[in-house]
Amino acid sequence: MSSHFPAKSATVAFGLAALIVVAGCNKSPATDTATTTAETKTAFVPTRTAGLAAGQVDPRVLPYLNSKAVVMEGKTLYQAHNCNGCHSNGGGGMGPSLMDDEWIYGGRIEDIHATLVEGRPNGMPHWKDKMPDVDLWKIATYVRSMSLPATLAAARNNTPSQDPAPVPESVETQ
Ligand code: HEC
Repeated sequence: MSSHFPAKSATVAFGLAALIVVAGCNKSPATDTATTTAETKTAFVPTRTAGLAAGQVDPRVLPYLNSKAVVMEGKTLYQAHNCNGCHSNGGGGMGPSLMDDEWIYGGRIEDIHATLVEGRPNGMPHWKDKMPDVDLWKIATYVRSMSLPATLAAARNNTPSQDPAPVPESVETQ
């Protein structure tokens, strides 16, 4: 009797090992798909920046940098066009958060402008022809300012001001 026991045990062990191998095999295609999807997302190259050398500022953005007035105008436009409806006050809702400095479609002002002009496939409407282009630039400048450290601090009540920060040129050249 006792001589059969180790043999049986070995069979069970072999069976288990086979199961683990099969489970491992089944798992890998799913993991590969997930990785591919994630890579596709991060590999998005914003069209407007594609032609710029590293450190180069898009000349169209220059009029909007370092201006608190532009940021405040952009904030008024953001509220007037009800971006709040989907993005809350930047914190996100149906649309992604615009305050966390993580961007699906690029976080430079010209990238955000392109997002506004063209719309994005998963539910972001396009705003081209719905308002003057200059207003889209101002909104983009405001949106960019929402994720800057000074603005994030204000949102967390770490400073007396709730105002968005103007976008310094150094942010654009990063
Ligand atoms: C109908 C709901 C809706 C409205 C209104 C809306 N958005 Fe969006 N927005 C979305 C969704 C959903 C996405 C995500 C799209 C995607 O992932 O393809 C998005 C994406 C974005 C992005 C890209 C974020 C990133 O991580 O790259 C920006 C910037 C943005 N919206 C700004 C705005 C601004 C500014 C307005 C107002 C002019 C606005 N949105 C109005 C739903 C909306």
